[in-house]
Amino acid sequence: MSSASEPRNIVLTGLQWGDEGKGKVVDVLACRSRLVVRFQGGNNAGHTLVVDGRQLILHVVPSGILNAGVSCVIGNGVVVDPEVLIIELDALAARGVDLSGERLILSDQAHVIMPYHRTLDACRESALGGKKIGTTKKGIGPTYEDKVARRGVRVCDLLDERALAERLYAVLPEKNRQLVDWYGDAAHTVDELLSWARPLAERLRPHVRDSVGHLHAANAAGQAILFEGAQGTFLDVDHGTYPFVTSSNTVAGQACAGTGVGPTDIHAVVGIAKAYTTRVGAGPFPTELDDALGAHIRDIGHEYGATTGRPRRCGWFDAALVRHAVRLNGTTHLALTKLDVLSGLETLQIGLGYEDSDAPPAGAEALMAARPRYETVPGWQEDIRQCRTWDSLPPTCRAYVERIEVLVGLPVGLVSVGPGREEIIVRSPLFRLADT
Ligand code: GDP
Ligand code: IMO
Ligand code: MG
Repeated sequence: MSSASEPRNIVLTGLQWGDEGKGKVVDVLACRSRLVVRFQGGNNAGHTLVVDGRQLILHVVPSGILNAGVSCVIGNGVVVDPEVLIIELDALAARGVDLSGERLILSDQAHVIMPYHRTLDACRESALGGKKIGTTKKGIGPTYEDKVARRGVRVCDLLDERALAERLYAVLPEKNRQLVDWYGDAAHTVDELLSWARPLAERLRPHVRDSVGHLHAANAAGQAILFEGAQGTFLDVDHGTYPFVTSSNTVAGQACAGTGVGPTDIHAVVGIAKAYTTRVGAGPFPTELDDALGAHIRDIGHEYGATTGRPRRCGWFDAALVRHAVRLNGTTHLALTKLDVLSGLETLQIGLGYEDSDAPPAGAEALMAARPRYETVPGWQEDIRQCRTWDSLPPTCRAYVERIEVLVGLPVGLVSVGPGREEIIVRSPLFRLADT
């Protein structure tokens, strides 16, 4: 639980292109929280936790679920594939995780990923050919499009067959036109989709609540809320490397719109950055190492997508990008993950900015063409996975972190040196584990 002197409600976001280790850090911070809430994205996310040597990858359920006493909430801003959520709940139950009562709450206002959204995502990607975005093909983009276009299906509709039928009669003609005439795929019928929805709705009904009311009651009672971001700052639909982005806002500001909790109730923002950079899918990546060194980092860091299994592109830490992300999120605390992966390299490079500017340019084309300026710093040879104190890290390793702190403009409060929950070096009281 949070102490009186520490911030109570915290938003956590990724400062790069996703996969920064958010799942692990949420699991660490969950011990001081009563609620953990997802506020955007869907099962395009893959958040990995390693507890007692066992790995768990979560796509929809918030990463606080392994902490008994935490209530997990899937907020209104999330898009939910009911089939995927049920598979995840079954897997958690099989692992012995208690999902009764209010341990897992699904917002009645969240939008539903329908079967046609998944199909349209895949069809659009293949139609783009060489210009594809490299989406996860989970239907995220088409579902958010329908939400904004006011033709989406919400969880409250899923639970009310008459409302769902009415909605489907209104939207299906257009969907079928696209599926059949544009992409040569199969049409859906209202009856078929109602039959698909019925068992899913009954299975999820016990979890569905007014999540906004639930969060406000918890907040009024002084309970600590942790808002778990998905994706990363440069996949944000406004601030990312458009159009190579996801279809939601991923920055900390979205925690408010995606849950109904106002900005004055947010007390701190934790930003997570990897000690190097990765990206999965297409799009600009100025510090990418498209060579043997990039392959080495991928190998040592096991850089393969937790959702799609695709190899992640790897490159040097880009301080200009992370500095910008710190501003975009209003970041107050920084966590640096996967430092252990860089052990054994003679020298390291840190991106300082670009030939023409210090800040990343807006256009994807310009960022694609941007040539980074680098600073070269010495590496370290020691394996650091056993280190649990700042002083036990090799001096050049500490110097690397300290250089990042100067370039990014924030102290690093947590250093992660391995995938396990305990593999951390705590430098700020905010990240202290419950029993330490
Ligand atoms: P997320 O999407 O931000 O939650 O990150 P992912 O789970 O997709 O990817 C992070 C990967 O790195 C996972 O396999 C984690 O288990 C692993 N990981 C997290 N922190 C560390 C660390 O400090 N060192 C190493 N070696 N692996 C880590
Ligand atoms: P977590 O939460 C890394 C990427 C996809 C693609 C782009 C758009 O695990 O960090 P989408 O399916 O969202 O329409 O795909 O966004 N992407 C991610 N990359 N981590 C993620 O989530 C991602 N979620 C989406 O690879 O480039
Ligand atoms: Mg991930």
